[in-house]
Amino acid sequence: MRHHAFPDGVTREGLIDWYRATRRRTRALFDLIQPDAYYDRPIALRNPVVFYEGHLPAFAVNTLIKLALKRDGIDERLETLFARGIDPEDEAAVKNPTDLWPSRDDVQAYGARADAMIEDALGNATLERDDVPELRGGEAVFTVLEHELMHQETLLYMLHNLPYAKKRTTSAPDVDTRAAAPQQRIAIPAGRATLGAARDSAFGWDNEFARITVDVDAFSIDARNVTNGDYLEFMHATGANAPHFWMRGDNGEWLWRGLLAPVPLPLDAPVYATHDEAAAYARWKGARLPTEAEYHRAAYGSPDGDERAQPWGDDAPDATRGNFDFASYEPLAAGAHPRGASAWGVLDLVGNGWEWTSTTFDAFPGFQAMPSYLPYSTDFFDGAHYVMKGASPVTARELVRRSFRNWFRPNYPFVYATFRCVY
Ligand code: AVJ
Ligand code: FE
Repeated sequence: MRHHAFPDGVTREGLIDWYRATRRRTRALFDLIQPDAYYDRPIALRNPVVFYEGHLPAFAVNTLIKLALKRDGIDERLETLFARGIDPEDEAAVKNPTDLWPSRDDVQAYGARADAMIEDALGNATLERDDVPELRGGEAVFTVLEHELMHQETLLYMLHNLPYAKKRTTSAPDVDTRAAAPQQRIAIPAGRATLGAARDSAFGWDNEFARITVDVDAFSIDARNVTNGDYLEFMHATGANAPHFWMRGDNGEWLWRGLLAPVPLPLDAPVYATHDEAAAYARWKGARLPTEAEYHRAAYGSPDGDERAQPWGDDAPDATRGNFDFASYEPLAAGAHPRGASAWGVLDLVGNGWEWTSTTFDAFPGFQAMPSYLPYSTDFFDGAHYVMKGASPVTARELVRRSFRNWFRPNYPFVYATFRCVY
């Protein structure tokens, strides 16, 4: 079994360490909030907080223990209750608020039993088998590990929206006082971009396969993201509304809705905006959002025609390359990581906020739903979700790979997503 974050190979000890570190960070995230927020639903279109603490271990048991290893789980009722999250189009489609959620003690006791079972499997079970679809290339194990990493980010979107009184830590985030990198339009000549990944190369989610090479026409792209300051000009000129991440202070001034506390609006940080807001801003500039293929060309292409694993080259992601892997809970000044620049000099394509593209989320040719999680992507190939690329400050390092694709609805305001214009 192969994973891009383990270039020297995957060992049982490595998997157990990864699992434990992931569980530890999940606990730290739940510890950000007051216990009385446990049954709150800070995002009306999502389940309450309790669901997520149960969903992670239940998904691990459902996927690795039951589906892949064909063993018994722990508790059928909880493993059904916590099987899947929701993404309804509007609040009317949310199931009735339920009083069926278990006590926190019961959820945590389930989690402890699940952890013991998963660690035992990682230490002793046959994790890779060609004759079991869920175990090809160790798929189920990586599905479980990366699923939890993705949920750490979506959990933060949710906890972000609890009132500050419901957070245990309310220290103001550090404000990045650096100026944004100067804005420039960078010309990218026509060329080829490779999207997706080769089957059998290393783990990826089903929507990352198969690999496809596309011709991309010449275009120009902003060197850095649209900042809060840029967006403020757009609002003044057009009367557009403020993004969800802005709030008013007592004197009517703009504040940034930080995770743990509001701070004066950082004008030099990338704006977090919906796809709809981003597209409207771009139209106002006489521009548009990049397609997924243009993002690839700007991020991974190079003047000599070669394509890189990461914008900065083939080195593994680390904190010098961008604002990701929980380096911060908040965006930093736009373009503040020159060591993460692409071959063309485009900044922050990975980190400091996902990048909206104008491409609707769909299958690449040769797509096959993954045996470990059949509806993972197919449920969202509906033309109602857009591809986001790159990484946010709270995207784990293990998810920072060229082929990784994220997606959300165009009007969902809670994601850590920014954008830049293409001309
Ligand atoms: C890939 C982040 C859009 O949160 O809906 C978690 C990830 N899928 N559990 C989502 C996911 C099922 C997914 N995103
Ligand atoms: Fe999930």
